[in-house]
Amino acid sequence: MTKALIAFGSTTGNTAEVANWIAAGLGKKGIEAKTEDCASAEVGGLCDNYDLVVLGCPTYGDDEIEIQEDFLPLLDDLEAAGIDGKKVAVFGCGDDSYFHFCGAVDEIEKRVRECGGELITASLRINDPHTDRKDEVLAWSDRIADAV
Ligand SMILES: Cc1cc2nc3c(=O)[nH]c(=O)nc-3n(C[C@H](O)[C@H](O)[C@H](O)COP(=O)(O)O)c2cc1C
Repeated sequence: MTKALIAFGSTTGNTAEVANWIAAGLGKKGIEAKTEDCASAEVGGLCDNYDLVVLGCPTYGDDEIEIQEDFLPLLDDLEAAGIDGKKVAVFGCGDDSYFHFCGAVDEIEKRVRECGGELITASLRINDPHTDRKDEVLAWSDRIADAV
């Protein structure tokens, strides 16, 4: 059975809820998905036992892109997390009234490529309110499941 890790950071809970939707969507496609809140995850070897790694992070900051604080240790140490050679998909929550809409997603994509991860589908940028986007999220998780 294909195993997926969904590792996310979330300050106000939006990205956490989306991570759970993705886990349920992958589950319906026969993929065993585990969610990991980066607030409590150990980075070293985090990706080791998974075929697919889904990374989720909201964007903070005003003039500059700020990665959500819990996600930052994982982003800084993707090598130690074992991302090299993994199939990867990236999503993020944000608000398009900010200049860098979902800018964290761009930063994560860049780091994943640098660290040898394979981005298997176009990343998902979810505009607030995320609750209006559940169908979009489930369609995206179907696309990941088909690509893995
Ligand atoms: C102080 C602050 C700064 C933010 N900066 C950005 C930003 O630069 N780009 C963006 O797309 N969204 C920005 N947002 C919106 C959040 O990313 C968005 O509300 C997201 O859904 C929060 O996700 P979370 O609940 O998982 O923490 C900002 C929100 C706050 C409160």
